[in-house]
Amino acid sequence: MIQKYVYGTPFNTESVIADIPCAGQSPAYGRISVGQNFCFSYQMGKKDRIYGLGEANRGINKRGYQYTSFCSDDPNHTESKRSLYGAHNFIVICGDNTFGLYFDYPSAITFDIGYSSPDLLTVSCEGTDLTLYVIDGESALDITKQFREIIGRSYIPPKFAFGFGQSRWGYADESDFQKVADGYRNNHIPLDMIYMDIDYMKDYKDFTVDSDKFPDFHAFVEEMKSKKIHLIPIIDAGVKIEKGYDVYEEGCEKGYFCKRADGSDFVGAVWPGRTHFPDMINPEARAWFGQKYERLISEGIDGFWNDMNEPAIFYSDEGLAEVRKALRPYMDDDVEIPNFLLGDKVDALANSPEDYKRFYHNVNGKMIRHDKVHNLYGFNMTRAASEAFEKIAPGKRFLMFSRSSYIGMHRYGGIWMGDNHSWWSHLLLNLKMLPSLNMCGFLYTGADLGGFGSDTTRDLLLRWLALGVFTPLMRNHAALGTREQECYQFEDVEDFRHVIGVRYRLLPYIYSEYLKAALNNDMMFKPLAFEYPDDEMACQVEDQLMLGNEIMIAPVYTQNADGRYVYLPEDMACIRFLPDGTIAKETLHAGHHYIKIALNEVVFFIRSGKCIPVVDAAESVDDIQMDTLQYIGDPEGNYLLYDDKNL
Ligand code: NOJ
Repeated sequence: MIQKYVYGTPFNTESVIADIPCAGQSPAYGRISVGQNFCFSYQMGKKDRIYGLGEANRGINKRGYQYTSFCSDDPNHTESKRSLYGAHNFIVICGDNTFGLYFDYPSAITFDIGYSSPDLLTVSCEGTDLTLYVIDGESALDITKQFREIIGRSYIPPKFAFGFGQSRWGYADESDFQKVADGYRNNHIPLDMIYMDIDYMKDYKDFTVDSDKFPDFHAFVEEMKSKKIHLIPIIDAGVKIEKGYDVYEEGCEKGYFCKRADGSDFVGAVWPGRTHFPDMINPEARAWFGQKYERLISEGIDGFWNDMNEPAIFYSDEGLAEVRKALRPYMDDDVEIPNFLLGDKVDALANSPEDYKRFYHNVNGKMIRHDKVHNLYGFNMTRAASEAFEKIAPGKRFLMFSRSSYIGMHRYGGIWMGDNHSWWSHLLLNLKMLPSLNMCGFLYTGADLGGFGSDTTRDLLLRWLALGVFTPLMRNHAALGTREQECYQFEDVEDFRHVIGVRYRLLPYIYSEYLKAALNNDMMFKPLAFEYPDDEMACQVEDQLMLGNEIMIAPVYTQNADGRYVYLPEDMACIRFLPDGTIAKETLHAGHHYIKIALNEVVFFIRSGKCIPVVDAAESVDDIQMDTLQYIGDPEGNYLLYDDKNL
């Protein structure tokens, strides 16, 4: 049962699509105070566990820390960080009372989950206009499914998007892409996509292709397609200010950029230098921006990733002017610059809260200050694209994922987990985010495998790929200046061929479970606690996940480990994809086990009585031979295979 409580006059975020009548002001759980600020407080039971918050830091059980939903471009996901790129305000309290809460509020909102006081949950924000949904149900999973029902069906990408993709910030011209394609194809490592980061554009201008680097882009896209490789370009939020650049000129002319209070177009610097931000929250501007994707679609492109859409701002004209002014007295060589000026003032230029108060959106003629609806920007950029796709090529499924998001965006695209690092701790963080994101509708997701920032290592990449084998978005991506981490750059490429090959062998299962989760408002990845709520041990597990109804995954995430401890809540078959292409199966009893897992193996567990489909390995999704399909697990088990016919 879902109860809706409305406080003040909330902005319509369009995250919830169901029409639910208002239940009054006082929910059955917790206390609400609405004065200067809004605050929900609830006394948690000693053993209550709190799930949700989508793309957030720390554990699967979120208790013990404070998190703020405020979409942030932060490339250092250390444990101390409270905000990442998404704002996903749905939590489930599991324990003395089990219920769900969704705070539909598009600005900064803080979840203090036993941080200030161990048993106190508070959710507070500066504004007082918001909608709260309180969900009762039989279990955490049931509550989650009810929530998913009211926010609408999750995005379903095209099937090729379940293949493996290679990316790197720095691939600039045809020859760079050719090298990657050859590196994979010549080594017979499967590949379906190569991602194009900002360097393909002319001076980082959205919807342009640098013709010096790609003399005949259309022909190049087609040539790659003939090798069964899709090129997936990035699109950034900021539009370069440049005379003669039609997107800029049109946007100015039509008044489609975000404006300052005085009506002038706000300026924020990003990769292209000074830019304007399209007013994604204005439906007209959104339709205009979305239509621009057509330029690349007409070249044969069938997938995109939307970036820098928190929106990230390196500095604004106003911010820069303030810093210049503050530094002016220190310009002579013999005057010492106080440290705080460099550290505080200059660093604080990027993504400054002050800048988010400097511009406005035009929503049906009403000017809304950006910070009040900040968390909706990335959502609506992706919506812009997706709504345009429907007009440009009705019924065609495009690959689309975004960096920033709000609940509701899950209907239009997926997300990737942003700028992680080549750290073992981020492999585990990748795993932990999966169920929380699924709770909020984000099914098409994954992290930069191998790590984006810092230099990766062979073993880290292999272990990370062995988790990536299961994540819908399976992409290796790295930052400019880091060690090259394409799989063929390392010794013994056959290990990479094998591990990625396992993804293709499992692809019918991954795709089927994805479709089931999307079509039935279910989670593809669940914490063990959702499946075995009465098993106290299972409820403690933070490094294993249930995938679909059949399997449990338990990847290795520590350096030099030759395996790991795994908790089996029931008897299961340990399935081992060995490097020689064979599959070993060993039945294990419920309880704790040390499972040896070599760097070149993929291991997971099938629940008793269940089986899953596998096919022979292939080098692209298109090459998968369904007539090689067989079932592994319990020979008596039945598996319902979903495929495109279920759509
Ligand atoms: C930030 C994104 O998170 C990253 O993936 C990308 O490589 C850089 N922007 C450059 O476009």
